[in-house]
Amino acid sequence: MNERIIAPSVLSLDYSKMTEQISILNQSKAKWLHFDVMDGHFVPNITFGPDILKGFKKSAHQLLDVHLMVTDPEKYAPIFIEAGAGCVTFHTEAFDNDLQRISALLKKNHEMGVLTGIVVKPDTPIELFESLLDQVDIVLIMSVEPGFGGQSFMESVLSKVVWLKQKKEEKQYAYRIEIDGGINLNTFQKAVEAGCDTLVAGSFVFKGDICANIEELLK
Ligand code: DX5
Ligand code: ZN
Repeated sequence: MNERIIAPSVLSLDYSKMTEQISILNQSKAKWLHFDVMDGHFVPNITFGPDILKGFKKSAHQLLDVHLMVTDPEKYAPIFIEAGAGCVTFHTEAFDNDLQRISALLKKNHEMGVLTGIVVKPDTPIELFESLLDQVDIVLIMSVEPGFGGQSFMESVLSKVVWLKQKKEEKQYAYRIEIDGGINLNTFQKAVEAGCDTLVAGSFVFKGDICANIEELLK
């Protein structure tokens, strides 16, 4: 099993205290920061552009894990890589699950020197992408409908995590299994037991003591 990584989602950061909260994150045990890019079209919400990512790149120590919730990942992946992403994941649904286009973008992201992988919404079967598993550094399983923080964890998606873990062991793949949505003290153990090694957490981490909350998720 890979080392567990906590990726606080900066969607829930308090932007009136941005500098202070980034400096707390820099002292925390979080190794990645999760950066939710929403275009108001693929999902009904709008978040950050590449210039904001550049600001994080200058001030945060962590690897920047960019989750593209956009209709046109082929256009935006290179832009966010240039802006400082260390990992880029994009939704298969944005390509109508077209394996060739997904594979081509994974290849292009690798050529630009970043970690990369796919994301699936709760209703998208993961088995469709078995032929791509030798090409990904990470598979991100959504445990809420993408678009907003603070939603409830959907336990039904854990069967996808179990399947991914089995495939990984069977074929000796090295990808990380990341989960995103509704991770808190009541849910993270279930995700870890199913096989997740990378936990995104937004509202849970930023409520109260950020460093202590991150440490709780590492227990
Ligand atoms: C939702 C985002 C998540 C979100 C998670 O579309 O992808 O990363 O920030 O927030 P919580 O942890 O509050 O569910
Ligand atoms: Zn996310």
